[in-house]
Amino acid sequence: MIPANVRDNFPILKQKMNGKPLIYLDSAATSQKPKRVIEALVRYYQEYNANVHRGIYRIAEEATQRYEASRAKVAAFINARRPEEVVFTRSTTEAINLVAYAWGRVNIREGDEIVLTEMEHHSNLVPWQLLAAEKRAKLKFIPFDSQGVLQLDEYERLLSERTKLVAFTHQSNVLGTINPVNEMARKAHAAGALVLVDGAQSAPHMPVDVQDLGVDFFALSAHKMCGPTGAGAIWARYEILDAMPPFHGGGEMIMLVQLDKTTYKDPPYKFEAGTPNIADCIVWADAIDYLQGIGMAAIREHEKQLTAYTLSQLSDVPGITIFGSRNLEHRGGVVSFELDGIHPHDVAQVLDQEGIAVRAGHHCAQPLHRRLGVAASTRASFYLYSTEQDVDALVRGLQVVRRVFSPKPAPVSGA
Ligand code: ALA
Repeated sequence: MIPANVRDNFPILKQKMNGKPLIYLDSAATSQKPKRVIEALVRYYQEYNANVHRGIYRIAEEATQRYEASRAKVAAFINARRPEEVVFTRSTTEAINLVAYAWGRVNIREGDEIVLTEMEHHSNLVPWQLLAAEKRAKLKFIPFDSQGVLQLDEYERLLSERTKLVAFTHQSNVLGTINPVNEMARKAHAAGALVLVDGAQSAPHMPVDVQDLGVDFFALSAHKMCGPTGAGAIWARYEILDAMPPFHGGGEMIMLVQLDKTTYKDPPYKFEAGTPNIADCIVWADAIDYLQGIGMAAIREHEKQLTAYTLSQLSDVPGITIFGSRNLEHRGGVVSFELDGIHPHDVAQVLDQEGIAVRAGHHCAQPLHRRLGVAASTRASFYLYSTEQDVDALVRGLQVVRRVFSPKPAPVSGA
């Protein structure tokens, strides 16, 4: 169960927007932050701001110890075998780019194939396009059906001995579809391919166990799970990281530097050149403590119920098309829709005047929208602090949208 007073933990939810109480329905874009996370950030800067892995003085040691403790916390959160399997990055996007660059450039050759899906966020598409162009490799795409569910029979047909990687989202940021990771990973491995999962939209919302999922790479970020922006991670099995060349070169990732050559540290440090995002990586641990205090299973259950409520309430809005599956077992707390004849930007603008924050546009998933046959959609997305009252406000807001944009009767010309 989500505690009844959970919203009290989020100072921003007491704000008004355009003079109306803020109804925040854009948690898939970024989550709101609990007070303890905000306070932990201030504490870092006020009490022990220092660079990590360098200084031999107390506050530098404290910063280093907390930075590494946070790595261990992220590792435990996703059930990694060891903290060294977690490489801090700026974001999920950077995590995927790290794999495309460091793993991809040595493991993908001309004629190899990378299998993706038609529902990917651009961050799990464009890095592979760049790699494929450089290596003359081929990208193949698993289609999704009218319910927003991946067509696994097509997936099997796409796999071959040329497939080197299968990369897909755990939970779609537009359709909310939760993909069958275990099954897809088993099939990929049987074909001899590795598996990368974009966990940006899953890790914040459900229990995740990378060992149980049976994948090779898992990317996630802090800001979608009550943590600060600018911190993310790539998890990979240690042997894979160990065999990969570095991503960025610079300070801290080295063992010995000579003018003509360098030897590198072991993972994860080999992949963390330069001063990392110390504050935000450290405070990610506070966000995880907060979420675990509530329980990931409880968060998933809450969002499932809220999604069921939303699907039923929105169905009554005239002219609405809701995208994605009605099967809540395979759908997370993301509801994208189209209002007949009204551009999503207009919908979002009217909702903004009502104090309601939603995302409108292509949500960094243009091919997905093309496949749906629309240029854009409006998206409401939830988190542990979202309530049925938020959904009721959205439904009322959409009624205002319809009033504003309903066709006006033609002016009566004077006789
Ligand atoms: N990837 C984030 C979203 O879907 C930004 O909104």
